[in-house]
Amino acid sequence: MSVDVVVLPVAGLGTRFLPATKAVPKELLPVVDKPLIQFAIEEAYRAGIREVVLVTNPSKKAIQDHFTPDPALEGVLQERGKDDLLAVVRAVLPEGMTLGVVNQDEALGLGHAILCAEPLVGNRPFAVMLPDDFIDDERGTGCLADMVALHEGHGDYSLAVEEVPRQRTDRYGIVSLTSDKRICAMVEKPKPESAPSTLAVVGRYVLPGEIFDALRHVRPGAGNEIQLTDGISALLDRFRFVPHRFAGVRYDCGNKMGFLMANVMLGMRDPDVGASLREWIGSMAGERA
Ligand code: G1P
Repeated sequence: MSVDVVVLPVAGLGTRFLPATKAVPKELLPVVDKPLIQFAIEEAYRAGIREVVLVTNPSKKAIQDHFTPDPALEGVLQERGKDDLLAVVRAVLPEGMTLGVVNQDEALGLGHAILCAEPLVGNRPFAVMLPDDFIDDERGTGCLADMVALHEGHGDYSLAVEEVPRQRTDRYGIVSLTSDKRICAMVEKPKPESAPSTLAVVGRYVLPGEIFDALRHVRPGAGNEIQLTDGISALLDRFRFVPHRFAGVRYDCGNKMGFLMANVMLGMRDPDVGASLREWIGSMAGERA
C-alpha cells in the first residue's frame, strides 16, 4: 500500500531556544535561509507524499502563515524584477501538496499529538516526521523516501535509527532487534544502565493506521506523557517493524549545538556564502592553533 500522508507534530513550545521562540515557533528557525519545517516538507515531497497534517496549537499560527500564499509580497518581488526570489516564495509549499491542520490543545506527549491527527489520517499507513531531527542527505532522495519505498516494496513499517553513545540513551526511544533484524521491543528514554541497546529512534516513522487505536489505550509513560514509543510497542507482535539506518547525517536541531552544526554545515555549501564561510572558519581555526 502506498504512503501518501505525513503527520508533523509541531505543537511544542521550543523552550530550549527562548527567547527566540517566544513569538517564532522553533520549526520556523532557519538552517541558513530555510525554516526547519520546510526542509521536512520537501523531504516528504521527495518521498512522493502530497498530504501534510500539522498537529499544532493555536498560538503557533505563524507556521500556517509561512505556507499561505502572500500576494502582497509576491507583487513587490514581481515589481522589483526579483524573479528568483518570487519562485522561492511560491515554492514554499511544493506544487500539489495540501496542508491540513489539527490542534493539540494540551501538551500530553508525542503519542497524544499523533492521536490528534486521526480524523485527517484515518485507517491508512502514514509517515511521521519530527522537524527538529534534520537529516542532511546530500546525495540521496532523503531518509523518508527510502522508508516509504521499504513499505511500498515489502509492506514493512519502519523507524529511522542510529547508534548513540550509551550515556545518551535517556534522550531517545531505544529499540531491541531480533536475530533477523526486526524490532521486537522498544523503551522510551531508558537510563544508560538499563538500556537494552544503544540503537536510538530518530524522528522518521512509517506506521500503520492501527497505531491510533493502540495510542488510545496507552497509559502515560516516560515523563508522565502519552508516548508514541509505547503505542508502537503494543503493535510489534502484529506488524513487522524494521529499523532504517539512514544515509546522511542527522542534526538534532531541538538543541543549540545540533542547530548550530546544521547551520555551519549547510552554510559551508551555500552558493552565496559557502566559500567565504569556509575561509573564515579556516582563519579562525588558524588563529586559535
Ligand atoms: C521523541 C521520541 C523518541 C525519539 C526522539 C527522536 O523524543 O519520543 O522516542 O527517540 O523523539 O528525536 P523527544 O525528542 O520529543 O523527547
